[in-house]
Amino acid sequence: MKLVLLGPPGSGKGTHAMWMCGEYKIPHISTGAMLREEERRNPHLYEEIRHYIDRGELVPDELIFEILKERLAESDCRDGYILDGFPRTLKQAEMLEALGGVDLAVMIDTMPELIMERVRGRRVCPQCGKGYHISQIPGGKCTDCGAEVTIRSDDKPETIRNRFDVYDRVTHPLVEHYKNEGKLARIDGSGTIGEVAAEIRALLNGGV
Ligand code: AP5
Repeated sequence: MKLVLLGPPGSGKGTHAMWMCGEYKIPHISTGAMLREEERRNPHLYEEIRHYIDRGELVPDELIFEILKERLAESDCRDGYILDGFPRTLKQAEMLEALGGVDLAVMIDTMPELIMERVRGRRVCPQCGKGYHISQIPGGKCTDCGAEVTIRSDDKPETIRNRFDVYDRVTHPLVEHYKNEGKLARIDGSGTIGEVAAEIRALLNGGV
Protein backbone atom coordinates (compact mmCIF):
# COMPACT_ATOMS: atom_id res chain seq x y z
CA MET A 1 0.00 0.00 0.00
CA LYS A 2 1.70 3.18 -1.21
CA LEU A 3 -0.17 6.11 0.25
CA VAL A 4 0.18 9.86 -0.01
CA LEU A 5 -1.52 12.10 2.54
CA LEU A 6 -2.50 15.44 1.04
CA GLY A 7 -3.79 18.51 2.81
CA PRO A 8 -2.86 22.00 3.94
CA PRO A 9 -0.62 22.68 6.96
CA GLY A 10 -2.39 21.50 10.11
CA SER A 11 -4.95 19.33 8.32
CA GLY A 12 -3.81 16.30 10.34
CA LYS A 13 -1.43 14.46 7.98
CA GLY A 14 1.13 13.75 10.71
CA THR A 15 -1.49 12.95 13.36
CA HIS A 16 -3.10 10.26 11.23
CA ALA A 17 0.10 8.90 9.69
CA MET A 18 1.27 8.14 13.25
CA TRP A 19 -1.46 5.56 13.98
CA MET A 20 -1.74 4.37 10.38
CA CYS A 21 1.88 3.19 10.26
CA GLY A 22 1.27 0.94 13.29
CA GLU A 23 -2.03 -0.39 12.02
CA TYR A 24 -1.01 -1.02 8.41
CA LYS A 25 2.62 -1.97 9.18
CA ILE A 26 4.18 0.40 6.68
CA PRO A 27 6.53 3.28 7.52
CA HIS A 28 5.40 6.86 8.03
CA ILE A 29 7.68 9.11 6.02
CA SER A 30 7.37 12.81 6.77
CA THR A 31 9.63 14.98 4.63
CA GLY A 32 9.07 17.89 7.06
CA ALA A 33 10.30 15.74 9.98
CA MET A 34 13.24 14.47 7.90
CA LEU A 35 14.25 18.02 7.08
CA ARG A 36 13.99 19.09 10.74
CA GLU A 37 16.06 16.04 11.68
CA GLU A 38 18.91 17.40 9.55
CA GLU A 39 19.44 20.05 12.27
CA ARG A 40 20.94 17.26 14.40
CA ARG A 41 22.36 15.04 11.65
CA ASN A 42 23.87 17.61 9.35
CA PRO A 43 23.88 21.16 10.82
CA HIS A 44 25.75 22.54 7.82
CA LEU A 45 23.04 21.39 5.40
CA TYR A 46 20.35 22.50 7.87
CA GLU A 47 21.58 26.08 7.66
CA GLU A 48 20.55 26.01 3.99
CA ILE A 49 17.25 24.24 4.72
CA ARG A 50 16.30 26.54 7.63
CA HIS A 51 16.30 29.47 5.27
CA TYR A 52 13.26 27.96 3.47
CA ILE A 53 11.44 26.39 6.41
CA ASP A 54 11.50 29.48 8.63
CA ARG A 55 9.95 31.56 5.84
CA GLY A 56 7.32 28.93 5.03
CA GLU A 57 8.78 28.30 1.56
CA LEU A 58 9.38 24.90 -0.01
CA VAL A 59 12.93 23.59 -0.12
CA PRO A 60 14.12 22.94 -3.72
CA ASP A 61 12.72 19.81 -5.39
CA GLU A 62 16.20 18.36 -6.08
CA LEU A 63 17.24 18.59 -2.44
CA ILE A 64 14.10 16.93 -1.09
CA PHE A 65 14.32 14.29 -3.82
CA GLU A 66 17.83 13.25 -2.74
CA ILE A 67 16.70 12.90 0.88
CA LEU A 68 13.60 10.91 -0.05
CA LYS A 69 15.36 8.68 -2.56
CA GLU A 70 17.66 7.39 0.17
CA ARG A 71 14.76 6.76 2.55
CA LEU A 72 12.56 4.91 0.03
CA ALA A 73 15.46 2.62 -0.83
CA GLU A 74 15.43 1.23 2.73
CA SER A 75 14.07 -2.29 3.18
CA ASP A 76 11.08 -1.30 5.35
CA CYS A 77 9.56 0.51 2.33
CA ARG A 78 9.38 -2.70 0.30
CA ASP A 79 5.70 -3.31 1.09
CA GLY A 80 4.65 0.32 0.90
CA TYR A 81 4.74 3.62 2.74
CA ILE A 82 2.70 6.55 4.00
CA LEU A 83 4.09 9.78 2.59
CA ASP A 84 3.26 12.86 4.67
CA GLY A 85 4.28 16.14 3.04
CA PHE A 86 5.51 14.66 -0.23
CA PRO A 87 4.85 15.31 -3.07
CA ARG A 88 4.25 19.05 -2.74
CA THR A 89 4.77 20.09 -6.36
CA LEU A 90 3.85 18.52 -9.69
CA LYS A 91 7.57 18.00 -10.31
CA GLN A 92 7.81 16.03 -7.05
CA ALA A 93 4.82 13.91 -8.12
CA GLU A 94 6.73 13.02 -11.29
CA MET A 95 9.84 12.24 -9.25
CA LEU A 96 7.81 9.94 -7.01
CA GLU A 97 6.66 7.90 -9.99
CA ALA A 98 10.32 7.10 -10.66
CA LEU A 99 10.87 6.04 -7.04
CA GLY A 100 7.94 3.70 -6.50
CA GLY A 101 4.72 5.58 -7.25
CA VAL A 102 1.42 5.90 -5.43
CA ASP A 103 -1.63 3.65 -5.07
CA LEU A 104 -3.85 6.21 -3.40
CA ALA A 105 -3.69 9.89 -2.45
CA VAL A 106 -5.87 10.71 0.57
CA MET A 107 -6.87 14.37 0.74
CA ILE A 108 -7.82 15.55 4.24
CA ASP A 109 -10.30 18.37 3.53
CA THR A 110 -10.50 20.87 6.37
CA MET A 111 -11.79 24.45 6.72
CA PRO A 112 -8.95 27.04 6.84
CA GLU A 113 -10.25 28.70 10.07
CA LEU A 114 -10.20 25.36 11.87
CA ILE A 115 -6.68 24.42 10.90
CA MET A 116 -5.29 27.87 11.66
CA GLU A 117 -6.44 27.38 15.27
CA ARG A 118 -4.92 23.89 15.35
CA VAL A 119 -1.54 25.04 14.08
CA ARG A 120 -1.45 28.00 16.47
CA GLY A 121 -2.03 25.59 19.36
CA ARG A 122 0.43 22.94 18.15
CA ARG A 123 3.23 21.90 20.49
CA VAL A 124 5.92 19.31 19.76
CA CYS A 125 8.11 17.24 22.05
CA PRO A 126 11.73 18.09 21.18
CA GLN A 127 12.87 14.67 22.45
CA CYS A 128 10.52 12.13 20.89
CA GLY A 129 8.76 14.27 18.27
CA LYS A 130 5.22 13.57 19.58
CA GLY A 131 2.75 16.31 18.61
CA TYR A 132 -0.01 17.84 20.74
CA HIS A 133 -2.53 20.65 20.83
CA ILE A 134 -1.79 22.92 23.81
CA SER A 135 -5.26 22.20 25.25
CA GLN A 136 -4.34 18.49 25.63
CA ILE A 137 -1.35 19.12 27.93
CA PRO A 138 -2.05 21.86 30.50
CA GLY A 139 1.33 21.15 32.19
CA GLY A 140 3.19 21.66 28.91
CA LYS A 141 5.06 18.34 29.23
CA CYS A 142 5.21 15.39 26.83
CA THR A 143 3.01 12.58 28.19
CA ASP A 144 5.44 9.95 26.82
CA CYS A 145 8.88 11.21 27.85
CA GLY A 146 8.18 14.16 30.18
CA ALA A 147 10.16 16.74 28.18
CA GLU A 148 8.89 20.31 27.98
CA VAL A 149 7.06 20.74 24.66
CA THR A 150 8.04 23.52 22.24
CA ILE A 151 6.55 25.53 19.36
CA ARG A 152 7.81 24.68 15.86
CA SER A 153 9.92 27.49 14.38
CA ASP A 154 7.58 27.68 11.35
CA ASP A 155 4.38 27.92 13.45
CA LYS A 156 4.78 31.68 13.94
CA PRO A 157 1.68 33.55 12.62
CA GLU A 158 3.44 35.27 9.68
CA THR A 159 5.11 32.01 8.59
CA ILE A 160 1.86 30.08 8.89
CA ARG A 161 0.18 32.55 6.53
CA ASN A 162 2.89 32.04 3.93
CA ARG A 163 2.72 28.24 4.29
CA PHE A 164 -1.01 28.39 3.49
CA ASP A 165 -0.34 30.64 0.53
CA VAL A 166 2.36 28.30 -0.82
CA TYR A 167 0.01 25.35 -0.30
CA ASP A 168 -2.80 27.01 -2.31
CA ARG A 169 -0.53 28.07 -5.17
CA VAL A 170 1.88 25.15 -5.50
CA THR A 171 0.61 22.06 -3.69
CA HIS A 172 -3.18 22.15 -4.06
CA PRO A 173 -2.98 21.44 -7.86
CA LEU A 174 -1.88 17.91 -6.88
CA VAL A 175 -5.48 17.20 -5.88
CA GLU A 176 -6.54 17.63 -9.50
CA HIS A 177 -3.49 15.67 -10.64
CA TYR A 178 -4.37 12.59 -8.57
CA LYS A 179 -8.06 12.96 -9.43
CA ASN A 180 -7.17 12.79 -13.13
CA GLU A 181 -5.10 9.68 -12.42
CA GLY A 182 -8.10 8.06 -10.67
CA LYS A 183 -6.12 7.83 -7.42
CA LEU A 184 -7.78 10.46 -5.25
CA ALA A 185 -9.91 9.88 -2.14
CA ARG A 186 -11.29 12.75 -0.02
CA ILE A 187 -11.79 12.61 3.72
CA ASP A 188 -13.70 15.15 5.79
CA GLY A 189 -11.05 16.41 8.23
CA SER A 190 -13.28 18.69 10.29
CA GLY A 191 -14.36 16.12 12.89
CA THR A 192 -12.45 15.00 15.97
CA ILE A 193 -9.23 13.04 15.51
CA GLY A 194 -11.17 9.84 16.28
CA GLU A 195 -13.89 10.66 13.72
CA VAL A 196 -11.38 11.43 10.98
CA ALA A 197 -9.42 8.26 11.82
CA ALA A 198 -12.61 6.22 11.50
CA GLU A 199 -13.22 7.66 8.03
CA ILE A 200 -9.68 6.81 6.94
CA ARG A 201 -10.05 3.27 8.29
CA ALA A 202 -13.34 2.79 6.47
CA LEU A 203 -11.72 3.97 3.25
CA LEU A 204 -8.60 1.81 3.51
CA ASN A 205 -10.26 -1.28 4.91
CA GLY A 206 -12.76 -1.09 2.08
CA GLY A 207 -9.80 -1.90 -0.18
CA VAL A 208 -7.11 0.20 -1.84
P1 AP5 B 1 5.70 19.77 7.20
O1 AP5 B 1 6.30 19.37 8.48
O2 AP5 B 1 5.30 18.72 6.24
O3 AP5 B 1 4.47 20.74 7.55
P2 AP5 B 1 3.01 20.92 6.85
O4 AP5 B 1 2.74 20.19 5.61
O5 AP5 B 1 2.85 22.38 6.79
O6 AP5 B 1 2.10 20.16 7.76
P3 AP5 B 1 1.99 20.26 9.29
O7 AP5 B 1 3.03 19.38 9.92
O8 AP5 B 1 1.97 21.69 9.71
O9 AP5 B 1 0.52 19.74 9.54
P4 AP5 B 1 -0.14 18.31 9.51
O10 AP5 B 1 -1.09 18.23 8.37
O11 AP5 B 1 0.86 17.19 9.66
O12 AP5 B 1 -1.02 18.43 10.83
P5 AP5 B 1 -0.78 17.80 12.27
O13 AP5 B 1 -1.12 16.36 12.24
O14 AP5 B 1 0.56 18.19 12.82
O15 AP5 B 1 6.68 20.76 6.41
C1 AP5 B 1 7.35 21.83 7.05
C2 AP5 B 1 8.23 22.57 6.04
O16 AP5 B 1 9.24 21.67 5.52
C3 AP5 B 1 7.52 23.11 4.79
O17 AP5 B 1 6.93 24.37 5.02
C4 AP5 B 1 8.69 23.18 3.81
O18 AP5 B 1 9.51 24.29 4.06
C5 AP5 B 1 9.48 21.94 4.13
N1 AP5 B 1 9.06 20.75 3.36
C6 AP5 B 1 8.52 19.60 3.84
N2 AP5 B 1 8.26 18.73 2.85
C7 AP5 B 1 8.67 19.33 1.70
C8 AP5 B 1 8.63 18.94 0.33
N3 AP5 B 1 8.12 17.76 -0.06
N4 AP5 B 1 9.11 19.83 -0.58
C9 AP5 B 1 9.63 21.02 -0.22
N5 AP5 B 1 9.68 21.45 1.07
C10 AP5 B 1 9.19 20.62 2.02
O19 AP5 B 1 -1.93 18.55 13.08
C11 AP5 B 1 -1.79 19.91 13.44
C12 AP5 B 1 -2.35 20.16 14.85
O20 AP5 B 1 -3.76 19.91 14.83
C13 AP5 B 1 -1.77 19.23 15.92
O21 AP5 B 1 -1.64 19.96 17.10
C14 AP5 B 1 -2.84 18.11 16.07
O22 AP5 B 1 -2.84 17.58 17.37
C15 AP5 B 1 -4.12 18.88 15.75
N6 AP5 B 1 -5.15 18.08 15.07
C16 AP5 B 1 -4.99 17.28 13.98
N7 AP5 B 1 -6.17 16.76 13.60
C17 AP5 B 1 -7.10 17.24 14.46
C18 AP5 B 1 -8.53 17.08 14.60
N8 AP5 B 1 -9.23 16.29 13.75
N9 AP5 B 1 -9.16 17.74 15.60
C19 AP5 B 1 -8.45 18.55 16.46
N10 AP5 B 1 -7.12 18.74 16.39
C20 AP5 B 1 -6.45 18.10 15.40
